[in-house]
Amino acid sequence: MRTPLIAGNWKMNLHRPEAVALAEAIRDGLKKDAQAEVAVCPPSVYLDGVAQAVRGSAVAVGAQNMYHEANGAFTGELSASMLKDVGCKYVILGHSERRHILGETNQDVNRKLLAALAAGLSPIVCVGETLAQREAGQTADVVWEQFFGSLAGVSAEQATQVVLAYEPVWAIGTGKTATPEQAEAVHADLRKILEVRYNSQTAQAVRIQYGGSVKPDNAAELLSQPNIDGALVGGASLKAEQFLAIVAAA
Ligand code: 13P
Repeated sequence: MRTPLIAGNWKMNLHRPEAVALAEAIRDGLKKDAQAEVAVCPPSVYLDGVAQAVRGSAVAVGAQNMYHEANGAFTGELSASMLKDVGCKYVILGHSERRHILGETNQDVNRKLLAALAAGLSPIVCVGETLAQREAGQTADVVWEQFFGSLAGVSAEQATQVVLAYEPVWAIGTGKTATPEQAEAVHADLRKILEVRYNSQTAQAVRIQYGGSVKPDNAAELLSQPNIDGALVGGASLKAEQFLAIVAAA
C-alpha cells in the first residue's frame, strides 16, 4: 500500500513571517488520523525557519532545487547535505519551471538526483509535457524520455526512495486541470515504465504524484485514481485551509 504524499510547492512566494505562519497553520491543522504524508517546500532561505516550526510534527520539509556537487566554488548553489542539515526530507527536482525557464536538462536532473539519493534525501522528480507536445500526440514519448534521462543509473532499491510527479505543463498555474482520466492514463504509463525498467515490486512501491491546478474541489477525484499517489500543489498550497482540504481529500 502506497501512502499518498501531498506536498506544497510554495515556489518563489511569501516572506519569512508568512512562510512560518503558513507552516504553523498546516502543522496545527493537520488531523491526527490524516491518511497522507504531508510536506511543505518553501523558498530555500526559509527552509530553516519552516523546519523549526514543524519540528516534531508530521509535516516534512522539502527544498525546491539543489546543486549536484557536494561543496566548493559554486556561488549561489546549495548541496544535498546542506538541505539535510536544515531538516529537509525531500527535494523537488526537474520542475517544469526549472526545465523551461531556467534551462535544466535531463542530465542536470540526473546528476542532482544521484547526489540527493547519496545524501539520503528523497527526490520528487517532475515530468510532464507542454500543450504543444500533448496536441502533437507526444505525451508518452516526452514522459518516457524525461523518466529515463532523469533516473539514469538509479538502482531498484534507490528508486523506491524516489517520488515521481506528473505535472502537465499546460495545467500548471492555469486553472486547467488534467481530467482524472487524462492524469490516470499517464500515471499508469509511468507505472508500466517503472515495471519495465525495474520490476513489479519496485513499480508498486514508487509513489507518483499529480500536479497542475490541484484544488480542494478537484483533489478527491484525482486522488481516487488507482495510480495517483498524492499531489504536488502550487497555488492552493499557499493557503493553509485549501492545502489541508486537499490533504483531507487524500
Ligand atoms: P499549481 O498548483 O499552481 O498549478 O502549480 C503546480 C505545480 O507546479 C506544483 O509543483
